[in-house]
Amino acid sequence: MPIIRVDQISQYEGQEVTVQGWVYNRTDKGKLVFLLVRDGTGFIQCVAFKGDLDEAVFDQLVRLPQESSVIISGPVRADKRAPGIPGGYEVGVKQIQIAQTADIDYPMSLKDHGVDFALDNRHLWIRMQSQWAILRVRATVMAATREWLDTNGYVEMSTPILTPAAAEGTSTLFETEYFDEGKAYLAQTGQLYSEATIFAFGKVYCYGPTFRAEKSKTRRHLTEFWMLEPEIAFCDLDQLMEIEEQMIQHIAQRVIRDRAAELKFLGRDISKLENIKAPFPRMSYDDAATYLLDLYQKETDPEKKELLKFEWGMDFGAPHETELTKLHDQPLFVYGYPSAVKAFYMEPWPGRPEVCKSVDLLAPEGYGEICGGSERMSDHDALLARIHKEGLPESAFKWYLELRKYGSVPHSGFGMGTERVTAWMCGIEHIREAIAFPRTIKRVYP
Ligand code: 4AD
Ligand code: MG
Repeated sequence: MPIIRVDQISQYEGQEVTVQGWVYNRTDKGKLVFLLVRDGTGFIQCVAFKGDLDEAVFDQLVRLPQESSVIISGPVRADKRAPGIPGGYEVGVKQIQIAQTADIDYPMSLKDHGVDFALDNRHLWIRMQSQWAILRVRATVMAATREWLDTNGYVEMSTPILTPAAAEGTSTLFETEYFDEGKAYLAQTGQLYSEATIFAFGKVYCYGPTFRAEKSKTRRHLTEFWMLEPEIAFCDLDQLMEIEEQMIQHIAQRVIRDRAAELKFLGRDISKLENIKAPFPRMSYDDAATYLLDLYQKETDPEKKELLKFEWGMDFGAPHETELTKLHDQPLFVYGYPSAVKAFYMEPWPGRPEVCKSVDLLAPEGYGEICGGSERMSDHDALLARIHKEGLPESAFKWYLELRKYGSVPHSGFGMGTERVTAWMCGIEHIREAIAFPRTIKRVYP
Protein backbone atom coordinates (compact mmCIF):
# COMPACT_ATOMS: atom_id res chain seq x y z
CA MET A 1 0.00 0.00 0.00
CA PRO A 2 1.47 3.38 -0.95
CA ILE A 3 2.38 5.76 1.86
CA ILE A 4 0.66 8.92 0.69
CA ARG A 5 0.67 12.63 1.48
CA VAL A 6 -2.63 14.00 2.71
CA ASP A 7 -2.35 17.07 0.46
CA GLN A 8 -2.56 14.66 -2.51
CA ILE A 9 -5.44 12.60 -1.10
CA SER A 10 -7.78 13.41 -4.00
CA GLN A 11 -5.57 11.36 -6.35
CA TYR A 12 -6.23 8.20 -4.32
CA GLU A 13 -10.02 8.06 -4.16
CA GLY A 14 -11.14 4.42 -4.04
CA GLN A 15 -7.63 3.09 -3.37
CA GLU A 16 -6.11 1.55 -0.25
CA VAL A 17 -3.41 3.78 1.18
CA THR A 18 -1.22 4.28 4.22
CA VAL A 19 -1.12 7.56 6.13
CA GLN A 20 1.59 8.27 8.72
CA GLY A 21 0.92 11.01 11.19
CA TRP A 22 -0.36 12.22 14.53
CA VAL A 23 -3.81 12.22 16.10
CA TYR A 24 -5.00 15.81 16.17
CA ASN A 25 -8.47 15.16 17.48
CA ARG A 26 -10.66 12.20 18.36
CA THR A 27 -14.43 11.81 18.60
CA ASP A 28 -16.12 8.60 19.72
CA LYS A 29 -19.61 7.62 18.53
CA GLY A 30 -20.28 4.14 19.96
CA LYS A 31 -19.10 1.72 17.31
CA LEU A 32 -17.26 4.48 15.43
CA VAL A 33 -14.14 6.45 16.30
CA PHE A 34 -13.28 9.48 14.20
CA LEU A 35 -9.63 10.45 14.24
CA LEU A 36 -8.47 13.69 12.67
CA VAL A 37 -4.92 12.81 11.66
CA ARG A 38 -2.28 15.29 10.53
CA ASP A 39 0.70 14.16 8.50
CA GLY A 40 2.53 17.46 7.98
CA THR A 41 0.94 18.07 4.58
CA GLY A 42 -2.66 18.17 5.72
CA PHE A 43 -5.37 16.95 8.08
CA ILE A 44 -7.49 13.91 7.22
CA GLN A 45 -10.45 12.25 8.89
CA CYS A 46 -9.85 8.55 9.59
CA VAL A 47 -12.88 6.50 10.58
CA ALA A 48 -12.49 3.33 12.63
CA PHE A 49 -15.45 0.93 12.72
CA LYS A 50 -15.52 -1.52 15.62
CA GLY A 51 -16.44 -4.41 13.34
CA ASP A 52 -13.32 -3.88 11.19
CA LEU A 53 -10.76 -4.13 13.97
CA ASP A 54 -9.65 -6.41 16.80
CA GLU A 55 -11.53 -5.59 19.95
CA ALA A 56 -8.27 -4.79 21.80
CA VAL A 57 -7.15 -2.43 19.06
CA PHE A 58 -10.52 -0.68 18.96
CA ASP A 59 -10.43 -0.25 22.76
CA GLN A 60 -7.02 1.38 22.44
CA LEU A 61 -8.38 3.77 19.82
CA VAL A 62 -11.24 4.86 22.02
CA ARG A 63 -8.70 6.03 24.59
CA LEU A 64 -5.98 7.22 22.20
CA PRO A 65 -4.63 10.56 23.47
CA GLN A 66 -4.20 13.62 21.26
CA GLU A 67 -0.78 13.69 19.52
CA SER A 68 -0.24 9.92 19.57
CA SER A 69 1.72 8.92 16.48
CA VAL A 70 0.03 6.42 14.17
CA ILE A 71 0.35 4.55 10.90
CA ILE A 72 -3.07 3.91 9.39
CA SER A 73 -4.01 1.91 6.31
CA GLY A 74 -7.36 1.70 4.58
CA PRO A 75 -9.48 2.87 1.65
CA VAL A 76 -9.89 6.52 0.63
CA ARG A 77 -13.49 7.69 0.28
CA ALA A 78 -14.80 11.03 -0.94
CA ASP A 79 -17.23 12.58 1.53
CA LYS A 80 -18.14 16.26 1.33
CA ARG A 81 -18.80 16.36 5.07
CA ALA A 82 -15.34 15.09 6.03
CA PRO A 83 -13.43 17.78 7.94
CA GLY A 84 -9.74 18.38 7.36
CA ILE A 85 -7.36 20.35 5.21
CA PRO A 86 -7.99 20.11 2.27
CA GLY A 87 -11.07 18.17 3.54
CA GLY A 88 -13.71 16.26 1.61
CA TYR A 89 -12.06 12.83 1.95
CA GLU A 90 -11.71 10.22 4.65
CA VAL A 91 -9.74 7.05 5.21
CA GLY A 92 -11.42 3.95 6.60
CA VAL A 93 -9.19 2.42 9.29
CA LYS A 94 -8.48 -1.20 8.31
CA GLN A 95 -5.14 -1.39 10.07
CA ILE A 96 -3.56 0.84 12.65
CA GLN A 97 -0.15 0.77 14.22
CA ILE A 98 0.43 3.05 17.18
CA ALA A 99 4.03 4.30 17.03
CA GLN A 100 3.71 6.04 20.39
CA THR A 101 0.83 6.61 22.75
CA ALA A 102 1.27 10.25 23.75
CA ASP A 103 1.23 11.34 27.39
CA ILE A 104 -2.23 12.48 28.35
CA ASP A 105 -1.06 15.86 29.68
CA TYR A 106 -0.53 17.47 26.24
CA PRO A 107 -0.70 21.19 27.04
CA MET A 108 -2.01 22.49 23.69
CA SER A 109 -5.56 21.19 23.76
CA LEU A 110 -7.75 22.37 20.89
CA LYS A 111 -9.31 25.26 22.77
CA ASP A 112 -8.09 28.86 22.48
CA HIS A 113 -5.05 29.68 24.54
CA GLY A 114 -3.73 33.04 25.71
CA VAL A 115 -0.95 34.43 23.54
CA ASP A 116 1.77 34.12 26.17
CA PHE A 117 0.86 30.53 26.90
CA ALA A 118 0.78 29.72 23.21
CA LEU A 119 4.16 31.38 22.62
CA ASP A 120 5.73 29.59 25.62
CA ASN A 121 4.56 26.38 23.94
CA ARG A 122 5.52 27.42 20.45
CA HIS A 123 7.29 24.09 19.88
CA LEU A 124 3.84 22.47 20.19
CA TRP A 125 1.68 25.35 18.98
CA ILE A 126 3.11 24.99 15.45
CA ARG A 127 1.20 21.67 15.23
CA MET A 128 -2.14 23.46 15.38
CA GLN A 129 -4.05 24.00 12.17
CA SER A 130 -3.86 27.78 12.07
CA GLN A 131 -0.13 27.92 12.81
CA TRP A 132 0.61 25.07 10.46
CA ALA A 133 -1.29 26.85 7.69
CA ILE A 134 0.58 30.14 8.25
CA LEU A 135 3.98 28.46 8.23
CA ARG A 136 3.15 26.54 5.05
CA VAL A 137 2.26 29.85 3.39
CA ARG A 138 5.58 31.26 4.63
CA ALA A 139 7.53 28.42 3.02
CA THR A 140 5.69 29.06 -0.24
CA VAL A 141 6.44 32.80 -0.04
CA MET A 142 10.14 31.94 0.26
CA ALA A 143 10.05 29.31 -2.49
CA ALA A 144 8.16 31.62 -4.87
CA THR A 145 10.60 34.43 -4.17
CA ARG A 146 13.60 32.27 -5.00
CA GLU A 147 11.79 30.83 -8.02
CA TRP A 148 11.20 34.30 -9.46
CA LEU A 149 14.76 35.44 -8.85
CA ASP A 150 16.36 32.24 -10.11
CA THR A 151 14.37 32.29 -13.35
CA ASN A 152 15.17 35.97 -13.91
CA GLY A 153 18.94 35.71 -13.86
CA TYR A 154 19.72 36.49 -10.23
CA VAL A 155 22.54 34.63 -8.47
CA GLU A 156 22.14 33.81 -4.78
CA MET A 157 25.12 35.03 -2.77
CA SER A 158 25.01 34.44 0.96
CA THR A 159 26.30 37.37 2.98
CA PRO A 160 27.91 37.30 6.43
CA ILE A 161 25.96 37.43 9.66
CA LEU A 162 28.96 38.60 11.70
CA THR A 163 29.89 42.06 10.46
CA PRO A 164 32.30 44.83 11.46
CA ALA A 165 29.89 47.81 11.48
CA ALA A 166 26.32 49.10 11.43
CA ALA A 167 24.56 49.42 8.09
CA GLU A 168 21.01 50.44 9.06
CA GLY A 169 21.56 52.79 11.99
CA THR A 170 23.56 52.26 15.16
CA SER A 171 20.59 52.15 17.53
CA THR A 172 19.46 48.63 16.62
CA LEU A 173 22.76 46.73 16.71
CA PHE A 174 23.38 43.46 18.52
CA GLU A 175 27.04 43.26 19.39
CA THR A 176 29.34 40.49 20.44
CA GLU A 177 33.02 40.12 21.37
CA TYR A 178 35.01 38.81 18.45
CA PHE A 179 38.26 37.19 19.67
CA ASP A 180 41.15 39.68 19.35
CA GLU A 181 39.38 41.71 16.67
CA GLY A 182 37.25 43.75 19.02
CA LYS A 183 33.51 43.90 18.48
CA ALA A 184 31.43 42.25 15.79
CA TYR A 185 27.75 42.95 15.08
CA LEU A 186 24.93 40.73 13.91
CA ALA A 187 23.95 41.75 10.38
CA GLN A 188 21.02 44.16 10.08
CA THR A 189 21.17 43.64 6.32
CA GLY A 190 23.28 41.83 3.74
CA GLN A 191 22.96 44.72 1.32
CA LEU A 192 26.44 46.21 1.51
CA TYR A 193 27.95 42.84 0.65
CA SER A 194 25.45 42.36 -2.16
CA GLU A 195 26.66 45.68 -3.53
CA ALA A 196 30.08 44.04 -3.76
CA THR A 197 28.81 40.85 -5.38
CA ILE A 198 26.91 42.67 -8.18
CA PHE A 199 30.26 43.82 -9.55
CA ALA A 200 31.10 40.15 -10.04
CA PHE A 201 27.64 38.72 -10.85
CA GLY A 202 25.46 41.60 -12.11
CA LYS A 203 22.17 40.63 -10.43
CA VAL A 204 22.29 38.94 -7.04
CA TYR A 205 20.25 38.29 -3.96
CA CYS A 206 20.88 37.27 -0.42
CA TYR A 207 18.20 35.61 1.68
CA GLY A 208 18.95 35.09 5.31
CA PRO A 209 18.25 36.03 8.89
CA THR A 210 18.79 39.65 9.87
CA PHE A 211 18.90 41.13 13.33
CA ARG A 212 17.58 44.36 14.78
CA ALA A 213 17.73 45.23 18.44
CA GLU A 214 14.37 46.97 17.89
CA LYS A 215 12.98 48.49 21.04
CA SER A 216 9.59 48.55 19.34
CA LYS A 217 6.90 46.20 20.58
CA THR A 218 4.63 46.56 17.56
CA ARG A 219 2.86 43.80 15.66
CA ARG A 220 5.28 44.38 12.76
CA HIS A 221 8.64 44.06 14.50
CA LEU A 222 10.80 41.08 15.32
CA THR A 223 14.39 41.21 16.53
CA GLU A 224 15.30 38.39 14.15
CA PHE A 225 13.59 38.15 10.79
CA TRP A 226 14.30 36.76 7.33
CA MET A 227 15.05 39.34 4.70
CA LEU A 228 15.30 38.83 0.97
CA GLU A 229 17.57 41.39 -0.65
CA PRO A 230 18.04 41.60 -4.41
CA GLU A 231 20.70 43.99 -5.72
CA ILE A 232 21.07 44.96 -9.37
CA ALA A 233 23.84 46.68 -11.34
CA PHE A 234 22.85 49.28 -13.96
CA CYS A 235 19.46 49.79 -12.33
CA ASP A 236 17.75 53.03 -11.36
CA LEU A 237 14.81 53.72 -9.07
CA ASP A 238 12.12 53.26 -11.75
CA GLN A 239 13.57 49.96 -12.88
CA LEU A 240 13.76 48.86 -9.25
CA MET A 241 10.03 49.45 -8.75
CA GLU A 242 9.27 47.33 -11.81
CA ILE A 243 11.35 44.48 -10.43
CA GLU A 244 9.63 44.69 -7.03
CA GLU A 245 6.12 44.64 -8.43
CA GLN A 246 6.84 41.71 -10.75
CA MET A 247 8.31 39.71 -7.89
CA ILE A 248 5.51 40.49 -5.42
CA GLN A 249 2.87 39.66 -8.03
CA HIS A 250 4.58 36.32 -8.65
CA ILE A 251 4.66 35.52 -4.94
CA ALA A 252 0.96 36.30 -4.53
CA GLN A 253 0.00 34.18 -7.53
CA ARG A 254 1.95 31.18 -6.34
CA VAL A 255 0.53 31.45 -2.84
CA ILE A 256 -2.99 31.53 -4.31
CA ARG A 257 -2.20 28.54 -6.54
CA ASP A 258 -0.38 26.33 -4.04
CA ARG A 259 -1.85 27.31 -0.69
CA ALA A 260 -5.56 27.68 -1.41
CA ALA A 261 -6.54 25.14 1.28
CA GLU A 262 -4.42 26.87 3.92
CA LEU A 263 -5.77 30.31 3.00
CA LYS A 264 -9.32 28.98 3.10
CA PHE A 265 -8.74 27.53 6.55
CA LEU A 266 -7.38 30.90 7.71
CA GLY A 267 -10.49 32.61 6.35
CA ARG A 268 -8.41 34.72 3.99
CA ASP A 269 -10.36 36.65 1.36
CA ILE A 270 -8.48 35.44 -1.72
CA SER A 271 -9.94 38.16 -3.93
CA LYS A 272 -7.74 40.59 -1.99
CA LEU A 273 -4.68 38.63 -3.12
CA GLU A 274 -5.95 38.35 -6.67
CA ASN A 275 -5.83 42.17 -6.79
CA ILE A 276 -2.06 42.09 -6.51
CA LYS A 277 -1.32 42.80 -10.15
CA ALA A 278 1.51 44.93 -11.54
CA PRO A 279 1.85 47.85 -12.12
CA PHE A 280 1.34 49.12 -8.58
CA PRO A 281 0.43 52.77 -7.98
CA ARG A 282 3.31 55.14 -7.23
CA MET A 283 3.18 58.24 -5.03
CA SER A 284 5.95 60.66 -4.14
CA TYR A 285 6.75 61.31 -0.51
CA ASP A 286 5.89 64.97 -1.16
CA ASP A 287 2.38 64.08 -2.33
CA ALA A 288 1.95 61.62 0.51
CA ALA A 289 3.07 64.31 2.96
CA THR A 290 0.57 66.83 1.58
CA TYR A 291 -2.21 64.27 1.88
CA LEU A 292 -1.27 63.29 5.43
CA LEU A 293 -0.85 66.86 6.60
CA ASP A 294 -4.32 67.64 5.33
CA LEU A 295 -5.79 64.61 7.13
CA TYR A 296 -4.01 65.63 10.31
CA GLN A 297 -5.25 69.20 10.15
CA LYS A 298 -8.85 68.12 9.48
CA GLU A 299 -8.97 65.47 12.21
CA THR A 300 -11.23 66.55 15.07
CA ASP A 301 -10.94 63.56 17.44
CA PRO A 302 -7.99 64.50 19.71
CA GLU A 303 -6.80 60.90 20.16
CA LYS A 304 -6.73 60.20 16.44
CA LYS A 305 -5.17 63.58 15.81
CA GLU A 306 -2.27 62.71 18.11
CA LEU A 307 -1.64 59.50 16.14
CA LEU A 308 -1.85 61.29 12.79
CA LYS A 309 0.50 64.11 13.81
CA PHE A 310 2.57 64.91 10.76
CA GLU A 311 4.83 67.41 9.06
CA TRP A 312 7.08 67.21 6.01
CA GLY A 313 10.34 65.50 6.92
CA MET A 314 8.90 62.94 9.33
CA ASP A 315 9.11 59.23 8.71
CA PHE A 316 5.70 57.56 8.50
CA GLY A 317 4.34 55.79 11.53
CA ALA A 318 2.01 52.81 11.20
CA PRO A 319 -1.13 55.04 11.31
CA HIS A 320 0.23 57.16 8.43
CA GLU A 321 1.01 54.09 6.32
CA THR A 322 -2.46 52.76 7.03
CA GLU A 323 -4.05 56.01 5.81
CA LEU A 324 -1.98 55.95 2.61
CA THR A 325 -2.77 52.33 1.83
CA LYS A 326 -6.49 53.05 2.20
CA LEU A 327 -6.20 54.96 -1.08
CA HIS A 328 -5.75 51.75 -3.13
CA ASP A 329 -6.56 48.02 -3.18
CA GLN A 330 -3.06 47.43 -4.53
CA PRO A 331 0.29 47.73 -2.79
CA LEU A 332 1.53 51.31 -3.03
CA PHE A 333 5.04 52.59 -3.81
CA VAL A 334 6.05 55.73 -1.94
CA TYR A 335 9.33 57.15 -3.26
CA GLY A 336 11.63 60.07 -2.58
CA TYR A 337 11.76 60.17 1.23
CA PRO A 338 13.74 62.80 3.13
CA SER A 339 17.37 61.67 3.38
CA ALA A 340 17.37 62.39 7.11
CA VAL A 341 14.99 59.48 7.86
CA LYS A 342 16.74 56.97 5.59
CA ALA A 343 20.05 55.07 5.57
CA PHE A 344 23.39 56.71 4.69
CA TYR A 345 23.94 54.87 1.39
CA MET A 346 20.97 56.25 -0.56
CA GLU A 347 21.54 58.31 -3.71
CA PRO A 348 20.41 61.93 -3.31
CA TRP A 349 17.63 63.17 -5.59
CA PRO A 350 19.15 65.22 -8.42
CA GLY A 351 18.89 68.91 -7.48
CA ARG A 352 17.27 68.11 -4.11
CA PRO A 353 19.91 66.86 -1.67
CA GLU A 354 17.40 66.77 1.21
CA VAL A 355 15.53 63.97 -0.59
CA CYS A 356 16.86 60.55 -1.60
CA LYS A 357 16.08 58.00 -4.29
CA SER A 358 14.40 55.63 -1.88
CA VAL A 359 11.22 53.66 -2.22
CA ASP A 360 9.05 51.77 0.24
CA LEU A 361 6.35 49.37 -0.82
CA LEU A 362 3.29 49.57 1.44
CA ALA A 363 0.88 46.65 1.50
CA PRO A 364 -2.87 47.34 1.66
CA GLU A 365 -5.33 46.42 4.44
CA GLY A 366 -3.18 48.17 7.02
CA TYR A 367 -0.11 45.93 6.58
CA GLY A 368 2.17 48.81 5.63
CA GLU A 369 5.84 48.58 4.68
CA ILE A 370 6.80 45.19 3.27
CA CYS A 371 9.80 46.30 1.18
CA GLY A 372 12.32 49.10 1.55
CA GLY A 373 14.86 49.93 -1.10
CA SER A 374 16.75 52.59 -2.98
CA GLU A 375 19.21 53.55 -5.62
CA ARG A 376 22.65 53.53 -3.97
CA MET A 377 25.21 56.29 -3.93
CA SER A 378 27.59 55.55 -6.76
CA ASP A 379 30.01 58.48 -6.32
CA HIS A 380 33.02 57.81 -4.10
CA ASP A 381 33.50 61.29 -2.65
CA ALA A 382 29.82 61.90 -1.99
CA LEU A 383 29.60 58.58 -0.16
CA LEU A 384 32.73 59.30 1.88
CA ALA A 385 31.30 62.68 2.90
CA ARG A 386 28.06 60.98 3.97
CA ILE A 387 29.92 58.37 6.02
CA HIS A 388 31.75 61.17 7.84
CA LYS A 389 28.56 63.13 8.36
CA GLU A 390 26.87 60.09 9.95
CA GLY A 391 29.87 59.53 12.21
CA LEU A 392 30.40 56.02 10.85
CA PRO A 393 33.88 54.44 11.13
CA GLU A 394 35.58 55.05 7.78
CA SER A 395 37.99 52.15 8.30
CA ALA A 396 35.13 49.62 8.45
CA PHE A 397 33.78 50.96 5.13
CA LYS A 398 37.08 51.02 3.24
CA TRP A 399 36.09 48.06 1.09
CA TYR A 400 32.61 49.50 0.49
CA LEU A 401 34.08 52.79 -0.70
CA GLU A 402 36.44 50.96 -3.06
CA LEU A 403 33.42 49.60 -4.96
CA ARG A 404 32.95 53.21 -6.10
CA LYS A 405 36.52 53.38 -7.43
CA TYR A 406 36.60 50.41 -9.78
CA GLY A 407 33.78 50.45 -12.29
CA SER A 408 31.08 52.21 -10.28
CA VAL A 409 27.62 52.15 -11.87
CA PRO A 410 24.14 53.26 -10.89
CA HIS A 411 22.74 50.36 -8.91
CA SER A 412 19.73 49.63 -6.78
CA GLY A 413 18.22 47.05 -4.51
CA PHE A 414 15.58 46.41 -1.92
CA GLY A 415 14.82 44.28 1.11
CA MET A 416 11.60 42.33 1.63
CA GLY A 417 10.55 41.19 5.09
CA THR A 418 9.44 37.56 4.78
CA GLU A 419 7.29 37.59 7.90
CA ARG A 420 5.54 40.82 6.92
CA VAL A 421 4.68 39.44 3.50
CA THR A 422 3.54 36.16 5.06
CA ALA A 423 1.32 37.95 7.58
CA TRP A 424 -0.23 39.96 4.76
CA MET A 425 -0.81 36.91 2.54
CA CYS A 426 -2.44 35.11 5.48
CA GLY A 427 -4.40 38.13 6.68
CA ILE A 428 -3.14 37.69 10.26
CA GLU A 429 -2.76 40.36 12.87
CA HIS A 430 0.78 39.87 14.20
CA ILE A 431 4.00 38.86 12.45
CA ARG A 432 5.17 36.78 15.40
CA GLU A 433 2.96 33.96 14.05
CA ALA A 434 4.68 34.18 10.66
CA ILE A 435 7.92 32.56 11.84
CA ALA A 436 8.32 29.22 13.60
CA PHE A 437 10.23 30.57 16.60
CA PRO A 438 9.74 34.32 16.94
CA ARG A 439 12.29 36.55 18.62
CA THR A 440 11.05 39.79 20.13
CA ILE A 441 12.47 42.05 22.84
CA LYS A 442 10.52 40.03 25.40
CA ARG A 443 11.18 36.55 24.02
CA VAL A 444 14.09 34.22 23.22
CA TYR A 445 12.31 31.03 24.42
CA PRO A 446 11.75 28.37 23.15
O1 4AD B 1 13.65 48.97 5.28
P1 4AD B 1 14.76 48.07 5.78
O2 4AD B 1 15.36 48.39 7.08
O3 4AD B 1 15.84 48.06 4.61
C1 4AD B 1 17.07 47.48 4.64
O4 4AD B 1 17.54 46.84 5.54
C2 4AD B 1 17.79 47.61 3.34
N1 4AD B 1 19.21 47.31 3.57
C3 4AD B 1 17.18 46.69 2.32
C4 4AD B 1 17.86 46.82 0.99
O5 4AD B 1 17.69 47.83 0.34
N2 4AD B 1 18.58 45.81 0.57
O6 4AD B 1 14.21 46.58 5.84
C5 4AD B 1 13.66 45.96 4.70
C6 4AD B 1 12.40 45.22 5.06
C7 4AD B 1 11.28 46.12 5.57
O7 4AD B 1 10.56 46.69 4.51
C8 4AD B 1 10.45 45.13 6.37
O8 4AD B 1 9.61 44.39 5.51
C9 4AD B 1 11.49 44.20 6.93
O9 4AD B 1 12.64 44.30 6.10
N3 4AD B 1 11.84 44.56 8.30
C10 4AD B 1 11.41 43.91 9.40
N4 4AD B 1 10.61 42.84 9.54
C11 4AD B 1 10.36 42.40 10.78
N5 4AD B 1 10.88 42.97 11.90
C12 4AD B 1 11.69 44.05 11.81
N6 4AD B 1 12.22 44.57 12.91
C13 4AD B 1 11.98 44.56 10.52
N7 4AD B 1 12.74 45.58 10.06
C14 4AD B 1 12.64 45.56 8.72
MG1 MG C 1 12.42 50.45 5.88
